[in-house]
Amino acid sequence: MKTEKLDLSSQIAKALELLDQGEVVGLPTETVYGLAARVDRPAGLAKIFQVKERPLFDPLIVHVSSLSMAQQYVKSWPRIAQSLALKFWPGPLTLVLPKSELVPAIVTSGLETVGLRMPRPMLALNLISQAGVGLAAPSANRFGRTSPTRWEHVQEEFKNAVFILQGDPCEVGIESTVLEIRDSVLVLHRLGSVSRIQIESELQNAGLSFEWLKADEMEKRSPGQMKHHYMPAVPLLWTESALTAQEIREKYLAARAQIPDTVEGVQLIKPEQVPRVSELRLSENPQAAARELYHQMRVIAQNADLIYFQKQNHMSGEDWSPILERLTKAASLKLD
Ligand code: TXA
Ligand code: MG
Repeated sequence: MKTEKLDLSSQIAKALELLDQGEVVGLPTETVYGLAARVDRPAGLAKIFQVKERPLFDPLIVHVSSLSMAQQYVKSWPRIAQSLALKFWPGPLTLVLPKSELVPAIVTSGLETVGLRMPRPMLALNLISQAGVGLAAPSANRFGRTSPTRWEHVQEEFKNAVFILQGDPCEVGIESTVLEIRDSVLVLHRLGSVSRIQIESELQNAGLSFEWLKADEMEKRSPGQMKHHYMPAVPLLWTESALTAQEIREKYLAARAQIPDTVEGVQLIKPEQVPRVSELRLSENPQAAARELYHQMRVIAQNADLIYFQKQNHMSGEDWSPILERLTKAASLKLD
């Protein structure tokens, strides 16, 4: 399917038609671009997994355009959810709650809970409200690979197989914070730009009592939280020491044989020759670093055989942890 240059309202009209027919479309959000299907079109939902080559055990987030739409997809809407949604929506916070019967099992990978969020761009909100139903959407990248933050990235990823709404580059640049609400117990499944401290202070201000699930009570890892994820087209090495490109190359070649071919179904790329070694440099400002992270990973991987990221001392604290978590999973090898 060719992504033609259409004005925005024609793009929305075309996307609505495709969604109605059980197709998938590229969806701009403030975090990363999504690959969306209507929750009430089984063919579209199945296509998401097929196009992404995504395993069925990894649940999808349902995107809504209003609080009342969100409430249709859950069994009940607790005060904690109301308070956090009023504060952070539209925005990069996904709330996980017990699902209603309107959410099909393929969306939640058979779980009894569903992840919901309201994205920020008007283009996305208009599309969802005009569709009149939630849109299930994972990030629009092939399974395990770097997430897209520009519509052009989605096109690179899927060529002309998917119609893409041509919105702006993503403002936030990393995926949403995923927070499960189990009555008054909170479980942080994925770090994102909405931090634990922001969530705590909002609930404290609202006078709502809550506690965090203790780490040792996390009976299993959240579905979809794989060891490797976000991987660029060439290997990425993580180092905390100041090394030269030549030292990086030597260390990679010495360790190469120990890098597995695949981990949890994600293929690790490990060329035998790596003549071009480049450093992935990030802004000192964590918001700017997050916004540019995936774009830079993609750009630099186009002209290198091996890339490396050197963690700097200033990269610590709540603003950096979601970025470092992505880089840890994107790295094929950590040198120290
Ligand atoms: O920012 C985002 O969240 C982007 C944009 C497109 O909205 N979406 C995104 O989707 O990152 P995806 O599929 O790449 O990651 C969603 C992750 C799943 O892998 C899983 O870890 C978690 O969200 N998740 C979804 N539903 C869940 C549930 N019911 N329980 C626990 N975790 C869930
Ligand atoms: Mg993803």
